[in-house]
Amino acid sequence: MKRVFSGVKPTGHLTLGNYLGAMRRWVAVDQHQADALFSVVDLHALTVEHDPARVRRLSRQAATLLLAVGLDPERCTVFVQSHVDEHARLSYLLECVATDGEMRRMIQYKEKAVRERARGGSVRLSLLTYPVLMAADILAYGTEEVPVGEDQAQHVELARDVAVRFNQRYGHTFVVPRATSPGMAARVMNLQEPTSKMGKSDDVGPGIVYLLDEPDVVRKKVMRAVTDSGRDVVYDRAGRPGVANLLEILAACTGGNPEALSGVYESYGALKKDTAEAVVEVLRPVQQRHKELCADPGYVEGVLRDGADRARAMARPTVDAAYRAIGLLPAPSDTRAGAGAVVNAAR
Ligand code: TRP
Repeated sequence: MKRVFSGVKPTGHLTLGNYLGAMRRWVAVDQHQADALFSVVDLHALTVEHDPARVRRLSRQAATLLLAVGLDPERCTVFVQSHVDEHARLSYLLECVATDGEMRRMIQYKEKAVRERARGGSVRLSLLTYPVLMAADILAYGTEEVPVGEDQAQHVELARDVAVRFNQRYGHTFVVPRATSPGMAARVMNLQEPTSKMGKSDDVGPGIVYLLDEPDVVRKKVMRAVTDSGRDVVYDRAGRPGVANLLEILAACTGGNPEALSGVYESYGALKKDTAEAVVEVLRPVQQRHKELCADPGYVEGVLRDGADRARAMARPTVDAAYRAIGLLPAPSDTRAGAGAVVNAAR
Protein backbone atom coordinates (compact mmCIF):
# COMPACT_ATOMS: atom_id res chain seq x y z
CA MET A 1 0.00 0.00 0.00
CA LYS A 2 1.26 3.43 -0.75
CA ARG A 3 2.40 5.67 2.07
CA VAL A 4 0.55 8.95 2.59
CA PHE A 5 1.41 11.70 5.06
CA SER A 6 -0.33 14.95 5.87
CA GLY A 7 -0.42 17.37 8.74
CA VAL A 8 -2.40 20.12 10.40
CA LYS A 9 -0.66 22.99 12.09
CA PRO A 10 -2.19 24.00 15.44
CA THR A 11 -2.04 27.75 14.84
CA GLY A 12 -5.77 28.31 14.92
CA HIS A 13 -9.08 26.55 15.29
CA LEU A 14 -9.79 24.18 12.42
CA THR A 15 -12.24 25.51 9.87
CA LEU A 16 -14.82 24.37 7.38
CA GLY A 17 -12.14 25.12 4.79
CA ASN A 18 -9.75 22.62 6.39
CA TYR A 19 -12.52 20.05 6.52
CA LEU A 20 -14.02 20.35 3.04
CA GLY A 21 -10.65 21.13 1.48
CA ALA A 22 -8.59 18.30 2.96
CA MET A 23 -9.66 16.40 6.05
CA ARG A 24 -12.80 14.97 4.54
CA ARG A 25 -10.78 13.32 1.83
CA TRP A 26 -8.35 11.89 4.37
CA VAL A 27 -11.32 10.22 6.02
CA ALA A 28 -13.18 9.08 2.92
CA VAL A 29 -10.27 8.07 0.70
CA ASP A 30 -6.75 8.13 2.09
CA GLN A 31 -7.20 6.14 5.27
CA HIS A 32 -8.81 3.34 3.25
CA GLN A 33 -6.55 3.29 0.23
CA ALA A 34 -3.19 3.99 1.78
CA ASP A 35 -0.95 3.39 4.73
CA ALA A 36 -1.61 6.90 5.99
CA LEU A 37 -0.23 9.08 8.75
CA PHE A 38 -1.91 12.27 9.95
CA SER A 39 0.00 14.48 12.31
CA VAL A 40 -0.69 17.52 14.43
CA VAL A 41 2.47 19.29 13.39
CA ASP A 42 2.98 21.32 16.53
CA LEU A 43 6.63 22.19 15.94
CA HIS A 44 5.46 24.22 12.97
CA ALA A 45 3.27 26.33 15.23
CA LEU A 46 6.36 27.78 16.88
CA THR A 47 7.65 29.56 13.79
CA VAL A 48 5.71 32.74 14.51
CA GLU A 49 4.99 34.50 17.75
CA HIS A 50 2.97 32.10 19.88
CA ASP A 51 1.39 31.61 23.25
CA PRO A 52 2.50 28.29 24.80
CA ALA A 53 -0.83 27.62 26.52
CA ARG A 54 -2.73 28.28 23.31
CA VAL A 55 -0.51 25.98 21.24
CA ARG A 56 -1.03 23.25 23.83
CA ARG A 57 -4.80 23.75 23.76
CA LEU A 58 -5.01 23.90 19.98
CA SER A 59 -2.82 20.82 19.60
CA ARG A 60 -5.10 18.78 21.82
CA GLN A 61 -8.14 20.13 20.04
CA ALA A 62 -6.73 19.41 16.59
CA ALA A 63 -5.90 15.84 17.57
CA THR A 64 -9.40 15.36 18.96
CA LEU A 65 -10.94 16.80 15.82
CA LEU A 66 -8.90 14.52 13.57
CA LEU A 67 -10.64 11.65 15.33
CA ALA A 68 -14.00 13.42 15.45
CA VAL A 69 -14.13 13.88 11.66
CA GLY A 70 -13.67 10.15 11.28
CA LEU A 71 -10.02 9.19 11.10
CA ASP A 72 -9.94 5.69 12.50
CA PRO A 73 -6.85 4.81 14.53
CA GLU A 74 -7.31 1.19 13.45
CA ARG A 75 -6.85 2.26 9.85
CA CYS A 76 -4.32 5.06 10.03
CA THR A 77 -1.76 6.61 12.34
CA VAL A 78 -2.74 9.77 14.18
CA PHE A 79 -0.02 11.42 16.24
CA VAL A 80 1.59 14.62 17.46
CA GLN A 81 4.77 15.58 15.64
CA SER A 82 6.79 16.61 18.70
CA HIS A 83 6.22 13.19 20.26
CA VAL A 84 8.42 11.66 17.60
CA ASP A 85 12.03 12.88 17.77
CA GLU A 86 12.84 11.70 14.26
CA HIS A 87 11.31 14.84 12.70
CA ALA A 88 13.75 17.20 14.38
CA ARG A 89 16.61 14.73 13.99
CA LEU A 90 16.10 14.49 10.26
CA SER A 91 15.40 18.18 9.84
CA TYR A 92 18.95 19.05 10.83
CA LEU A 93 20.42 16.69 8.26
CA LEU A 94 18.24 18.14 5.56
CA GLU A 95 19.41 21.63 6.51
CA CYS A 96 22.79 20.39 5.38
CA VAL A 97 21.36 19.52 1.99
CA ALA A 98 18.99 22.42 1.29
CA THR A 99 20.34 25.89 0.54
CA ASP A 100 19.52 29.27 1.99
CA GLY A 101 18.57 30.49 -1.49
CA GLU A 102 15.92 27.80 -1.75
CA MET A 103 14.46 28.82 1.60
CA ARG A 104 14.32 32.49 0.74
CA ARG A 105 12.47 31.76 -2.46
CA MET A 106 9.51 30.19 -0.68
CA ILE A 107 6.42 32.28 -1.31
CA GLN A 108 4.92 31.60 2.09
CA TYR A 109 8.13 32.66 3.81
CA LYS A 110 8.26 35.90 1.88
CA GLU A 111 4.65 36.73 2.68
CA LYS A 112 4.84 35.81 6.34
CA ALA A 113 8.17 37.52 6.91
CA VAL A 114 6.75 40.75 5.53
CA ARG A 115 3.73 40.40 7.80
CA GLU A 116 5.81 39.74 10.91
CA ARG A 117 8.07 42.71 10.21
CA ALA A 118 5.09 44.96 9.55
CA ARG A 119 3.80 44.05 12.99
CA GLY A 120 7.08 45.30 14.37
CA GLY A 121 8.20 41.79 15.25
CA SER A 122 11.32 39.94 14.29
CA VAL A 123 11.30 36.93 12.00
CA ARG A 124 12.17 33.66 13.68
CA LEU A 125 14.88 31.63 12.00
CA SER A 126 12.51 28.66 12.13
CA LEU A 127 10.13 30.49 9.79
CA LEU A 128 12.89 30.41 7.19
CA THR A 129 13.78 26.77 7.79
CA TYR A 130 10.16 25.58 8.16
CA PRO A 131 10.06 23.91 4.72
CA VAL A 132 13.02 21.74 5.71
CA LEU A 133 11.19 20.50 8.78
CA MET A 134 8.18 19.84 6.58
CA ALA A 135 10.44 17.91 4.18
CA ALA A 136 11.64 15.88 7.17
CA ASP A 137 8.01 15.16 8.17
CA ILE A 138 7.42 13.76 4.72
CA LEU A 139 10.72 12.00 3.97
CA ALA A 140 11.08 10.29 7.36
CA TYR A 141 8.17 8.02 6.49
CA GLY A 142 9.04 7.09 2.93
CA THR A 143 5.97 9.06 1.91
CA GLU A 144 4.83 8.71 -1.68
CA GLU A 145 1.84 11.03 -1.64
CA VAL A 146 1.14 14.21 0.27
CA PRO A 147 -2.50 15.33 0.02
CA VAL A 148 -2.34 19.08 0.61
CA GLY A 149 -3.86 22.29 -0.64
CA GLU A 150 -2.37 24.20 -3.50
CA ASP A 151 -0.62 26.64 -1.15
CA GLN A 152 1.63 23.82 0.05
CA ALA A 153 2.67 22.62 -3.40
CA GLN A 154 5.91 24.61 -3.36
CA HIS A 155 6.91 23.07 -0.03
CA VAL A 156 6.29 19.55 -1.30
CA GLU A 157 8.30 20.41 -4.40
CA LEU A 158 11.17 21.39 -2.11
CA ALA A 159 10.89 18.07 -0.28
CA ARG A 160 11.24 16.35 -3.65
CA ASP A 161 14.31 18.38 -4.58
CA VAL A 162 15.96 17.69 -1.24
CA ALA A 163 15.22 13.96 -1.48
CA VAL A 164 16.65 13.72 -4.98
CA ARG A 165 19.77 15.66 -4.02
CA PHE A 166 20.37 13.62 -0.88
CA ASN A 167 19.95 10.38 -2.81
CA GLN A 168 22.36 11.53 -5.52
CA ARG A 169 25.03 12.62 -3.09
CA TYR A 170 24.82 9.99 -0.40
CA GLY A 171 23.11 7.00 -1.94
CA HIS A 172 19.49 6.06 -2.23
CA THR A 173 17.83 6.80 1.12
CA PHE A 174 14.53 8.58 0.54
CA VAL A 175 11.41 7.93 -1.45
CA VAL A 176 10.71 10.95 -3.65
CA PRO A 177 7.23 12.21 -2.69
CA ARG A 178 4.64 14.09 -4.69
CA ALA A 179 1.76 16.35 -3.78
CA THR A 180 -1.70 15.14 -4.63
CA SER A 181 -4.42 17.67 -4.93
CA PRO A 182 -7.48 16.25 -3.27
CA GLY A 183 -9.85 15.53 -6.13
CA MET A 184 -13.09 15.86 -4.22
CA ALA A 185 -11.88 18.89 -2.32
CA ALA A 186 -13.61 22.20 -2.37
CA ARG A 187 -11.63 25.37 -2.23
CA VAL A 188 -13.56 27.20 0.45
CA MET A 189 -13.09 30.95 0.55
CA ASN A 190 -13.52 33.45 3.34
CA LEU A 191 -17.19 34.46 3.53
CA GLN A 192 -16.30 38.12 4.00
CA GLU A 193 -13.47 38.13 1.50
CA PRO A 194 -14.35 35.55 -1.12
CA THR A 195 -11.14 36.01 -3.06
CA SER A 196 -8.94 34.73 -0.22
CA LYS A 197 -9.05 31.27 1.23
CA MET A 198 -10.77 30.38 4.48
CA GLY A 199 -7.58 29.82 6.45
CA LYS A 200 -7.40 29.14 10.15
CA SER A 201 -4.42 31.33 10.90
CA ASP A 202 -6.20 34.54 9.89
CA ASP A 203 -8.21 33.91 12.97
CA VAL A 204 -10.37 36.98 12.82
CA GLY A 205 -13.62 36.01 12.03
CA PRO A 206 -16.99 36.60 10.74
CA GLY A 207 -15.87 35.18 7.39
CA ILE A 208 -14.55 31.94 8.84
CA VAL A 209 -16.72 29.01 9.92
CA TYR A 210 -14.96 26.94 12.56
CA LEU A 211 -15.68 23.25 12.96
CA LEU A 212 -16.79 23.87 16.52
CA ASP A 213 -19.02 26.88 15.83
CA GLU A 214 -22.50 26.48 17.32
CA PRO A 215 -25.32 26.14 14.75
CA ASP A 216 -26.56 29.67 15.37
CA VAL A 217 -23.10 31.09 14.89
CA VAL A 218 -22.78 29.19 11.61
CA ARG A 219 -26.14 30.52 10.44
CA LYS A 220 -25.20 34.08 11.30
CA LYS A 221 -21.88 33.87 9.50
CA VAL A 222 -23.36 32.35 6.36
CA MET A 223 -26.35 34.73 6.26
CA ARG A 224 -23.92 37.67 6.50
CA ALA A 225 -21.63 36.38 3.78
CA VAL A 226 -20.63 38.99 1.25
CA THR A 227 -22.45 38.50 -2.01
CA ASP A 228 -22.01 40.30 -5.27
CA SER A 229 -23.98 43.08 -6.82
CA GLY A 230 -26.65 41.65 -9.05
CA ARG A 231 -29.52 39.50 -7.95
CA ASP A 232 -29.69 36.40 -10.02
CA VAL A 233 -27.83 33.36 -8.79
CA VAL A 234 -25.14 32.44 -11.31
CA TYR A 235 -22.00 30.39 -10.88
CA ASP A 236 -19.12 32.59 -11.94
CA ARG A 237 -15.93 32.24 -9.89
CA ALA A 238 -14.17 35.25 -11.34
CA GLY A 239 -17.09 37.62 -11.73
CA ARG A 240 -19.21 36.63 -8.72
CA PRO A 241 -16.82 35.15 -6.19
CA GLY A 242 -19.13 35.55 -3.19
CA VAL A 243 -22.06 33.69 -4.71
CA ALA A 244 -19.75 31.12 -6.29
CA ASN A 245 -18.25 30.39 -2.87
CA LEU A 246 -21.69 29.79 -1.36
CA LEU A 247 -22.63 27.50 -4.24
CA GLU A 248 -19.41 25.55 -3.81
CA ILE A 249 -19.89 25.18 -0.08
CA LEU A 250 -23.48 24.04 -0.61
CA ALA A 251 -22.37 21.61 -3.31
CA ALA A 252 -19.57 20.24 -1.15
CA CYS A 253 -21.94 19.72 1.77
CA THR A 254 -24.78 18.13 -0.19
CA GLY A 255 -22.82 16.26 -2.85
CA GLY A 256 -24.24 18.46 -5.58
CA ASN A 257 -22.70 20.46 -8.35
CA PRO A 258 -22.36 24.26 -8.04
CA GLU A 259 -23.29 24.94 -11.64
CA ALA A 260 -26.47 22.88 -11.40
CA LEU A 261 -27.37 24.33 -8.01
CA SER A 262 -27.18 27.87 -9.36
CA GLY A 263 -30.25 27.13 -11.45
CA VAL A 264 -32.26 26.13 -8.40
CA TYR A 265 -32.17 29.47 -6.59
CA GLU A 266 -34.03 32.64 -7.33
CA SER A 267 -32.46 34.77 -4.63
CA TYR A 268 -29.29 35.14 -2.62
CA GLY A 269 -31.30 34.87 0.57
CA ALA A 270 -32.65 31.42 -0.26
CA LEU A 271 -29.19 30.24 -1.30
CA LYS A 272 -27.69 31.46 1.97
CA LYS A 273 -30.39 29.84 4.02
CA ASP A 274 -29.91 26.42 2.44
CA THR A 275 -26.14 26.74 2.57
CA ALA A 276 -26.26 27.58 6.28
CA GLU A 277 -28.44 24.55 7.03
CA ALA A 278 -26.25 22.27 4.91
CA VAL A 279 -23.15 23.38 6.82
CA VAL A 280 -24.90 22.92 10.17
CA GLU A 281 -25.83 19.37 9.13
CA VAL A 282 -22.30 18.53 8.03
CA LEU A 283 -20.85 19.82 11.29
CA ARG A 284 -23.43 18.22 13.56
CA PRO A 285 -21.95 14.70 13.74
CA VAL A 286 -18.41 16.06 13.98
CA GLN A 287 -19.36 18.23 16.94
CA GLN A 288 -21.25 15.39 18.56
CA ARG A 289 -18.27 13.06 18.26
CA HIS A 290 -15.93 15.80 19.45
CA LYS A 291 -18.01 16.22 22.56
CA GLU A 292 -17.90 12.49 23.27
CA LEU A 293 -14.14 12.40 22.80
CA CYS A 294 -13.65 15.39 25.10
CA ALA A 295 -15.49 13.45 27.78
CA ASP A 296 -12.95 10.64 27.39
CA PRO A 297 -9.49 12.27 27.37
CA GLY A 298 -7.87 8.98 28.32
CA TYR A 299 -8.99 7.48 25.03
CA VAL A 300 -7.56 10.32 22.96
CA GLU A 301 -4.32 10.17 24.90
CA GLY A 302 -4.08 6.43 24.27
CA VAL A 303 -4.61 6.93 20.55
CA LEU A 304 -1.85 9.54 20.46
CA ARG A 305 0.50 7.33 22.46
CA ASP A 306 -0.01 4.37 20.13
CA GLY A 307 0.19 6.67 17.13
CA ALA A 308 3.54 8.10 18.26
CA ASP A 309 4.89 4.60 18.93
CA ARG A 310 3.88 3.45 15.48
CA ALA A 311 5.19 6.58 13.79
CA ARG A 312 8.52 6.34 15.59
CA ALA A 313 8.95 2.74 14.53
CA MET A 314 8.24 3.69 10.93
CA ALA A 315 10.54 6.71 10.84
CA ARG A 316 13.46 5.39 12.83
CA PRO A 317 15.08 3.09 10.23
CA THR A 318 14.96 5.73 7.49
CA VAL A 319 16.36 8.47 9.69
CA ASP A 320 19.08 6.17 11.02
CA ALA A 321 19.97 5.24 7.46
CA ALA A 322 20.22 8.93 6.55
CA TYR A 323 22.56 9.55 9.50
CA ARG A 324 24.87 6.78 8.33
CA ALA A 325 24.69 7.74 4.67
CA ILE A 326 25.70 11.34 5.29
CA GLY A 327 28.81 10.30 7.18
CA LEU A 328 27.91 10.22 10.86
CA LEU A 329 29.23 7.40 12.99
CA PRO A 330 26.60 5.05 14.33
CA ALA A 331 26.19 5.57 18.07
CA PRO A 332 27.93 2.65 19.81
CA SER A 333 24.76 1.82 21.74
CA ASP A 334 22.85 1.41 18.46
CA THR A 335 25.05 -1.45 17.40
CA ARG A 336 24.15 -3.67 20.34
CA ALA A 337 20.92 -5.59 20.29
CA GLY A 338 18.51 -4.34 22.93
CA ALA A 339 20.59 -1.22 23.57
CA GLY A 340 17.53 0.95 23.25
CA ALA A 341 16.10 -0.48 26.46
CA VAL A 342 19.32 0.18 28.34
CA VAL A 343 19.44 3.77 27.12
CA ASN A 344 15.83 4.33 28.06
CA ALA A 345 16.35 2.94 31.54
CA ALA A 346 19.38 5.16 32.08
CA ARG A 347 17.53 8.37 31.16
N1 TRP B 1 2.79 23.24 6.15
C1 TRP B 1 1.51 22.61 6.26
C2 TRP B 1 0.44 23.70 6.41
O1 TRP B 1 0.74 24.82 6.75
C3 TRP B 1 1.42 21.69 7.42
C4 TRP B 1 2.43 20.59 7.33
C5 TRP B 1 3.58 20.48 8.03
C6 TRP B 1 2.38 19.47 6.46
N2 TRP B 1 4.24 19.35 7.69
C7 TRP B 1 3.54 18.72 6.73
C8 TRP B 1 1.46 19.04 5.49
C9 TRP B 1 3.82 17.54 6.02
C10 TRP B 1 1.75 17.87 4.80
C11 TRP B 1 2.92 17.14 5.05
O2 TRP B 1 -0.71 23.41 6.20
